[in-house]
Amino acid sequence: MEKDVEIGIFGGTGIYDSGLLENAQEIDIDTPYGKPSDTITVGVFKGRKIAFLPRHGKKHTIPPHKINFKANIWAFKELGVTRIIAPSAVGSLKEELEPGHFALPTQFIDFTKSRDGTFSDNGRVIHISVADPFCPELQSSILQVTDNQDLNMHKDCTYVCIEGPRFSTKAESKFYRTTGADIIGMTLVPECQLAREAQMCYASISTVTDYDVWADKPVTAKEVIETLSKNVEKTKKVLTELIDKIPTTRSCSCAKALEEAEF
Ligand code: ADE
Repeated sequence: MEKDVEIGIFGGTGIYDSGLLENAQEIDIDTPYGKPSDTITVGVFKGRKIAFLPRHGKKHTIPPHKINFKANIWAFKELGVTRIIAPSAVGSLKEELEPGHFALPTQFIDFTKSRDGTFSDNGRVIHISVADPFCPELQSSILQVTDNQDLNMHKDCTYVCIEGPRFSTKAESKFYRTTGADIIGMTLVPECQLAREAQMCYASISTVTDYDVWADKPVTAKEVIETLSKNVEKTKKVLTELIDKIPTTRSCSCAKALEEAEF
């Protein structure tokens, strides 16, 4: 397999379904960790080779706790991907982050319970740093784009990742608010840390779809999907403008993440 794809995008909605990709093809990949969430759409956009993989599967059949994150990251790595952009839907833990706004997470707090979140297996022991878990270079490209668009983008957000697939209780949601976190979702961990272990750049663009239940109204999947659909064009616009803003060579330290990670 040629390893010539540069940018990988996780997400069911985006530019791959709008006919913008040149020479689009579907690639079926197997990995040592099993199959990724679906076939991967690969094609060229603005001269850059891009891969798309919807993390819940093309028909949205895979719940967050069943996503094979290791296979998804491995498959991107197999294709040559060095930069991952990860759109996602999140709930809001703060009044000022309104549904329909966007958030750029720079930190996460992991409340997941049963996920396989490391390639540190088969006798290999790696301890990567996730002090700053996202790629600063990719994040600055995202902000260059969103600063010029009519988006309510909240920077420097902390993302609470829960196990799901259920939403939180009121008590849980109020507790998460006491941590000072801004947004809550179910998919960032371990996707983000596996990308770091694989020495790939990773940044997330979160669409705020609801106020989490601290606001006293239960969250519903219907509400999440409705807000997501209303804002999909905005995410698409960010992605289309972002692609050629991403530097072709990496000057961040993501490619060296394993250098001091082993005894
Ligand atoms: N994804 C979207 N909204 C969410 C919420 N309120 N909690 C967890 N994950 C979400």
